[in-house]
Amino acid sequence: MAGTVILGAQWGDEGKGKITDLLADRMDYVVRYAGGNNAGHTVVCGADEFKLHLIPSGILYPHIISVIGNGVVVNPKVLLEEMDNLNSRGISTENLKISLNAHLVMPYHLAFDRLGELSLGKAKLGTTHRGIGPAYADKADRLGLRVQDLLDEKIFRTKVETALKRKNAILAKAFGQPGFDVDQIVEEYLGYADRLEPHIADTTLMLNNALEEGKEVLFEGAQGTLLDLDHGTYPFVTSSSPTIGGVFTGTGVSPKHIKKIVGVAKAYVTRVGYGPFPTEQENEIGELMGKKGVEFGTTTGRKRRCGWLDGVLLRYAARINGLTSLALTKLDVLSEFETIKICVGYNFQGKIYYEFPAHQSIFHKCVPEYVEIPGWRSDITEVTKKENLPKEALKYIDLIEQISGVPVEIISVGPKRTQTVWVSEEIKPAQIENGPYLHFEDYDPFSGGY
Ligand code: GDP
Ligand code: IMO
Ligand code: MG
Repeated sequence: MAGTVILGAQWGDEGKGKITDLLADRMDYVVRYAGGNNAGHTVVCGADEFKLHLIPSGILYPHIISVIGNGVVVNPKVLLEEMDNLNSRGISTENLKISLNAHLVMPYHLAFDRLGELSLGKAKLGTTHRGIGPAYADKADRLGLRVQDLLDEKIFRTKVETALKRKNAILAKAFGQPGFDVDQIVEEYLGYADRLEPHIADTTLMLNNALEEGKEVLFEGAQGTLLDLDHGTYPFVTSSSPTIGGVFTGTGVSPKHIKKIVGVAKAYVTRVGYGPFPTEQENEIGELMGKKGVEFGTTTGRKRRCGWLDGVLLRYAARINGLTSLALTKLDVLSEFETIKICVGYNFQGKIYYEFPAHQSIFHKCVPEYVEIPGWRSDITEVTKKENLPKEALKYIDLIEQISGVPVEIISVGPKRTQTVWVSEEIKPAQIENGPYLHFEDYDPFSGGY
């Protein structure tokens, strides 16, 4: 058993990129299993900041094989741009592997995403406009194109023709929009194929072999539990499975290989896009959280909505995913507050719900029941040992553990690698000061170290 999963326990942007980067040091493989370039994962190392959308955060380490699993939807143009960008910053993408079975985001998916939102009017979801929903819809409709189709011009052309027959008719009849041209798409995408071909692989076989050999594999979740198509706040969700089940369908590995499931949660909650958010603070509290936490979307630059930590949702995320530990991020942002609130239940028409209410109307209309504790009002961004945190912060962490039923194993007190409190020394990376990728040329492939 050598599989570790890192996934979002809230509505995304929990800091999965930072936590993946920290744990990747000890891994052999880092794998994305769901989502597409709607994701934006930030890794900060010293003065360097990387924003990754499709490529796993492990790419920054030369010893790691980075894998885009079959559950991801791939926009090849964006992927190549991201590879070029990393290359221009001295990061090799030679070790990047892309599943043959991953679906492609096509130009018409972007158009349908935009038109879908427009047609919803006030009821729109606030998607990232990256074509994610329409790409997954075509996958389910068996009308999608896969990465492997890029390798055969005849097959690719036939599939594009089939798809466009339907898509162009809908564009014309339902939206009065011009259609897409087969030749143009084929030419553009086959151009990408030449560059992507060396990276295309049977990643399911590769990962299963690696796990059988006892290699360490990290599965890097995108989005978050509440954005899950099945278990999230539908319809205000994404169109994939960021939760634990997505790891298996999105990579083709067996659950028997998973030893650890780390839920990443902010010390408060944010959400981009529309949909219910019981603990949202549309006031100076939310403003302050946003300001101190620099809460702007990594992918779209949109302002994130902010609110107090929701214990009911955290317990739900623990249940759905079987979390074995929590990584609590952005605790430093709460240093600003005189008192801190945590939601422990929902009040709906006088009845208190301690578990996530499956009925949407309750979730939409409930009023949070809070526990309020004193804040610590001191700078914690240099703390690296749990016992050195203020007693009020320790109380807050204790409350989170009690409510979620999951131990907090990593506490993040700033965006940098060094700004981390390791509750468990066992998983602390060997090289914490600077990411090894900053010393790229010093890497010795024969000793496997620096
Ligand atoms: P992801 O999508 O889950 O990887 O998260 P994002 O990268 O979209 O957003 C998290 C943001 O918070 C990034 O800008 C990180 O650099 C930053 N961040 C991560 N951990 C911490 C922390 O503990 N404190 C602070 N202040 N910022 C953090
Ligand atoms: P990471 O991996 C936060 C949200 C969008 C929108 C909804 C549907 O960085 O945590 P989509 O474009 O997926 O159809 O949009 O999902 N969303 C995210 N919110 N973080 C993300 O990814 C997100 N990916 C999608 O804002 O509300
Ligand atoms: Mg993000």
